[in-house]
Amino acid sequence: MSRTFRIAPSILSADFARLGEEVRNVIAAGADWIHFDVMDNHYVPNLTFGPMVCQALKPHAKTPAGAAVPIDVHLMIQPVDALAAAFADAGADYISFHPDASGHVHRSIQAIRSKGVKPGLVFNPAEPLDVLDWVIDDIDLILIMSVNPGFGGQSFIDSALRKIEAVRKRIDASGKDIRLEVDGGIKTDNIRRVADAGADTFVAGSAIFGKPDYQGVISAMRAQLG
Ligand code: DX5
Ligand code: ZN
Repeated sequence: MSRTFRIAPSILSADFARLGEEVRNVIAAGADWIHFDVMDNHYVPNLTFGPMVCQALKPHAKTPAGAAVPIDVHLMIQPVDALAAAFADAGADYISFHPDASGHVHRSIQAIRSKGVKPGLVFNPAEPLDVLDWVIDDIDLILIMSVNPGFGGQSFIDSALRKIEAVRKRIDASGKDIRLEVDGGIKTDNIRRVADAGADTFVAGSAIFGKPDYQGVISAMRAQLG
Protein backbone atom coordinates (compact mmCIF):
# COMPACT_ATOMS: atom_id res chain seq x y z
CA MET A 1 0.00 0.00 0.00
CA SER A 2 1.64 3.32 -1.06
CA ARG A 3 1.97 5.77 1.77
CA THR A 4 1.25 9.51 1.57
CA PHE A 5 3.48 11.25 4.06
CA ARG A 6 2.01 13.93 6.35
CA ILE A 7 3.90 16.50 8.42
CA ALA A 8 2.01 17.63 11.53
CA PRO A 9 3.70 20.53 13.37
CA SER A 10 2.87 20.53 17.09
CA ILE A 11 1.73 23.93 18.37
CA LEU A 12 3.18 22.96 21.75
CA SER A 13 6.37 24.70 20.53
CA ALA A 14 4.61 27.61 18.84
CA ASP A 15 4.47 31.19 20.16
CA PHE A 16 1.37 30.99 22.41
CA ALA A 17 0.98 34.78 22.18
CA ARG A 18 0.40 34.48 18.38
CA LEU A 19 -1.18 31.05 17.91
CA GLY A 20 -3.55 31.96 15.07
CA GLU A 21 -0.76 33.59 13.09
CA GLU A 22 1.56 30.65 13.83
CA VAL A 23 -1.03 28.17 12.53
CA ARG A 24 -1.54 30.18 9.34
CA ASN A 25 2.20 30.58 8.80
CA VAL A 26 3.11 26.92 9.32
CA ILE A 27 0.32 25.85 6.95
CA ALA A 28 1.53 28.35 4.34
CA ALA A 29 5.00 26.79 4.86
CA GLY A 30 3.64 23.36 3.86
CA ALA A 31 2.24 21.69 7.02
CA ASP A 32 -0.33 18.97 6.27
CA TRP A 33 -1.97 18.75 9.72
CA ILE A 34 -1.91 20.82 12.91
CA HIS A 35 -0.96 18.68 15.92
CA PHE A 36 -2.65 19.85 19.12
CA ASP A 37 -0.97 18.60 22.29
CA VAL A 38 -3.51 18.70 25.12
CA MET A 39 -2.02 18.26 28.61
CA ASP A 40 -3.88 18.30 31.95
CA ASN A 41 -1.12 18.36 34.63
CA HIS A 42 -2.56 15.05 35.85
CA TYR A 43 -1.88 12.40 33.24
CA VAL A 44 1.31 14.31 32.30
CA PRO A 45 3.26 16.90 34.35
CA ASN A 46 2.35 19.86 32.14
CA LEU A 47 -0.72 21.98 31.32
CA THR A 48 -1.49 23.37 27.85
CA PHE A 49 -4.80 24.31 26.25
CA GLY A 50 -8.45 23.22 25.99
CA PRO A 51 -11.34 23.04 23.52
CA MET A 52 -11.85 26.81 23.45
CA VAL A 53 -8.38 27.29 21.97
CA CYS A 54 -9.13 24.59 19.40
CA GLN A 55 -12.36 26.40 18.49
CA ALA A 56 -10.51 29.73 18.22
CA LEU A 57 -7.84 28.21 15.94
CA LYS A 58 -10.22 26.25 13.72
CA PRO A 59 -10.84 29.20 11.32
CA HIS A 60 -7.06 29.62 10.95
CA ALA A 61 -6.51 25.95 10.05
CA LYS A 62 -6.90 26.57 6.34
CA THR A 63 -4.54 26.66 3.36
CA PRO A 64 -4.03 30.02 1.65
CA ALA A 65 -6.52 28.72 -0.97
CA GLY A 66 -9.07 28.15 1.79
CA ALA A 67 -8.94 24.33 2.06
CA ALA A 68 -9.44 22.95 5.58
CA VAL A 69 -6.33 21.55 7.29
CA PRO A 70 -7.00 18.69 9.75
CA ILE A 71 -6.64 19.45 13.46
CA ASP A 72 -5.03 16.38 15.03
CA VAL A 73 -5.85 16.47 18.76
CA HIS A 74 -3.58 14.40 21.00
CA LEU A 75 -5.19 14.03 24.44
CA MET A 76 -2.65 13.55 27.21
CA ILE A 77 -5.43 13.71 29.78
CA GLN A 78 -7.26 11.46 32.25
CA PRO A 79 -10.22 10.88 32.19
CA VAL A 80 -10.76 11.07 28.45
CA ASP A 81 -14.42 11.04 27.44
CA ALA A 82 -15.84 14.42 28.51
CA LEU A 83 -13.02 16.49 27.01
CA ALA A 84 -12.89 14.32 23.90
CA ALA A 85 -16.53 15.21 23.25
CA ALA A 86 -15.77 18.90 23.86
CA PHE A 87 -12.86 18.80 21.37
CA ALA A 88 -15.12 17.12 18.84
CA ASP A 89 -17.58 20.00 19.25
CA ALA A 90 -14.65 22.45 18.97
CA GLY A 91 -13.72 21.19 15.50
CA ALA A 92 -11.14 18.43 15.99
CA ASP A 93 -10.72 16.17 12.95
CA TYR A 94 -8.71 13.44 14.71
CA ILE A 95 -8.82 12.75 18.45
CA SER A 96 -6.30 10.31 19.86
CA PHE A 97 -5.99 9.25 23.50
CA HIS A 98 -3.77 7.02 25.63
CA PRO A 99 -5.52 3.67 26.35
CA ASP A 100 -4.05 3.62 29.88
CA ALA A 101 -5.92 6.92 30.52
CA SER A 102 -9.39 5.49 29.75
CA GLY A 103 -11.32 3.03 31.87
CA HIS A 104 -13.18 1.75 28.79
CA VAL A 105 -11.05 2.05 25.66
CA HIS A 106 -13.57 0.59 23.23
CA ARG A 107 -16.34 2.83 24.59
CA SER A 108 -14.11 5.93 24.34
CA ILE A 109 -13.30 5.08 20.72
CA GLN A 110 -17.01 4.61 19.94
CA ALA A 111 -17.87 7.93 21.61
CA ILE A 112 -15.31 9.84 19.49
CA ARG A 113 -16.53 8.15 16.31
CA SER A 114 -20.15 8.92 17.21
CA LYS A 115 -19.26 12.64 17.03
CA GLY A 116 -18.04 12.21 13.44
CA VAL A 117 -14.37 12.49 14.43
CA LYS A 118 -11.59 10.03 13.50
CA PRO A 119 -10.45 8.16 16.66
CA GLY A 120 -6.87 7.14 17.43
CA LEU A 121 -4.81 5.47 20.17
CA VAL A 122 -1.49 6.72 21.53
CA PHE A 123 1.23 4.42 22.92
CA ASN A 124 3.87 5.64 25.37
CA PRO A 125 7.42 4.27 25.07
CA ALA A 126 6.83 1.39 27.51
CA GLU A 127 3.15 0.82 26.63
CA PRO A 128 2.43 -2.59 24.99
CA LEU A 129 0.35 -2.81 21.79
CA ASP A 130 -1.94 -5.62 23.02
CA VAL A 131 -5.11 -3.50 23.05
CA LEU A 132 -4.82 -3.29 19.23
CA ASP A 133 -5.78 -6.99 19.12
CA TRP A 134 -9.34 -5.90 19.96
CA VAL A 135 -9.78 -2.37 18.55
CA ILE A 136 -7.54 -1.97 15.47
CA ASP A 137 -10.62 -2.24 13.24
CA ASP A 138 -12.25 0.67 15.10
CA ILE A 139 -9.55 3.35 14.75
CA ASP A 140 -8.16 5.58 12.00
CA LEU A 141 -4.85 6.57 13.65
CA ILE A 142 -2.13 4.97 15.77
CA LEU A 143 0.28 7.42 17.41
CA ILE A 144 3.60 6.12 18.71
CA MET A 145 5.34 8.29 21.33
CA SER A 146 9.07 8.44 20.69
CA VAL A 147 9.51 10.54 23.85
CA ASN A 148 7.77 10.43 27.23
CA PRO A 149 4.71 12.70 26.98
CA GLY A 150 4.67 16.14 28.54
CA PHE A 151 7.30 18.30 26.91
CA GLY A 152 8.70 19.30 23.54
CA GLY A 153 12.40 19.38 22.70
CA GLN A 154 13.24 15.90 24.02
CA SER A 155 15.49 13.32 22.33
CA PHE A 156 14.08 10.52 20.17
CA ILE A 157 13.86 7.16 22.00
CA ASP A 158 15.29 4.57 19.59
CA SER A 159 13.17 1.64 20.88
CA ALA A 160 10.21 3.43 19.23
CA LEU A 161 11.58 2.22 15.87
CA ARG A 162 10.88 -1.42 16.81
CA LYS A 163 7.39 -0.50 17.97
CA ILE A 164 6.72 1.40 14.70
CA GLU A 165 7.79 -1.70 12.72
CA ALA A 166 5.43 -3.87 14.80
CA VAL A 167 2.52 -1.45 14.29
CA ARG A 168 3.19 -1.24 10.54
CA LYS A 169 2.89 -5.05 10.37
CA ARG A 170 -0.41 -4.93 12.30
CA ILE A 171 -1.84 -2.16 10.08
CA ASP A 172 -0.83 -3.95 6.85
CA ALA A 173 -2.32 -7.23 8.17
CA SER A 174 -5.58 -5.41 9.05
CA GLY A 175 -5.99 -4.16 5.47
CA LYS A 176 -7.36 -0.94 6.94
CA ASP A 177 -6.36 2.62 6.01
CA ILE A 178 -4.91 3.61 9.40
CA ARG A 179 -2.36 6.41 9.70
CA LEU A 180 0.82 5.62 11.64
CA GLU A 181 1.93 8.80 13.38
CA VAL A 182 5.09 9.34 15.46
CA ASP A 183 5.46 12.05 18.08
CA GLY A 184 8.60 13.28 19.77
CA GLY A 185 12.16 14.13 18.78
CA ILE A 186 11.47 14.10 15.04
CA LYS A 187 14.11 16.10 13.12
CA THR A 188 15.26 16.45 9.53
CA ASP A 189 18.16 14.11 10.30
CA ASN A 190 16.07 11.21 11.64
CA ILE A 191 12.70 11.45 9.80
CA ARG A 192 13.85 9.07 7.03
CA ARG A 193 14.79 6.39 9.58
CA VAL A 194 11.33 6.77 11.19
CA ALA A 195 9.63 6.51 7.77
CA ASP A 196 11.71 3.43 6.91
CA ALA A 197 10.42 1.80 10.11
CA GLY A 198 6.88 2.28 8.77
CA ALA A 199 5.58 5.68 9.88
CA ASP A 200 3.65 7.94 7.49
CA THR A 201 2.73 10.90 9.70
CA PHE A 202 5.27 12.95 11.63
CA VAL A 203 4.74 15.30 14.56
CA ALA A 204 7.45 17.93 14.83
CA GLY A 205 7.35 20.78 17.34
CA SER A 206 10.74 22.24 18.27
CA ALA A 207 12.26 21.25 14.91
CA ILE A 208 9.91 23.75 13.23
CA PHE A 209 8.53 26.38 15.62
CA GLY A 210 11.07 28.85 16.92
CA LYS A 211 13.10 28.44 13.72
CA PRO A 212 13.43 31.42 11.30
CA ASP A 213 12.29 29.52 8.18
CA TYR A 214 9.32 27.11 8.63
CA GLN A 215 9.20 26.36 4.91
CA GLY A 216 12.90 25.52 4.84
CA VAL A 217 12.53 22.95 7.62
CA ILE A 218 9.35 21.38 6.25
CA SER A 219 10.81 21.20 2.73
CA ALA A 220 14.00 19.60 4.09
CA MET A 221 11.90 17.01 5.93
CA ARG A 222 9.90 16.29 2.77
CA ALA A 223 13.09 15.95 0.77
CA GLN A 224 14.28 13.29 3.23
CA LEU A 225 10.98 11.42 2.79
CA GLY A 226 11.35 11.44 -0.99
C1 DX5 B 1 5.21 15.37 24.08
C2 DX5 B 1 4.73 16.17 22.92
C3 DX5 B 1 5.92 16.42 22.00
C4 DX5 B 1 5.63 17.35 20.88
C5 DX5 B 1 6.72 17.24 19.83
O1 DX5 B 1 4.17 15.18 24.95
O2 DX5 B 1 3.68 15.50 22.25
O3 DX5 B 1 6.34 15.16 21.52
O4 DX5 B 1 4.44 17.12 20.33
O5 DX5 B 1 7.82 17.84 20.39
P1 DX5 B 1 9.25 17.85 19.67
O6 DX5 B 1 9.01 17.74 18.18
O7 DX5 B 1 9.84 19.18 20.07
O8 DX5 B 1 9.97 16.66 20.21
ZN1 ZN C 1 1.50 14.96 20.60
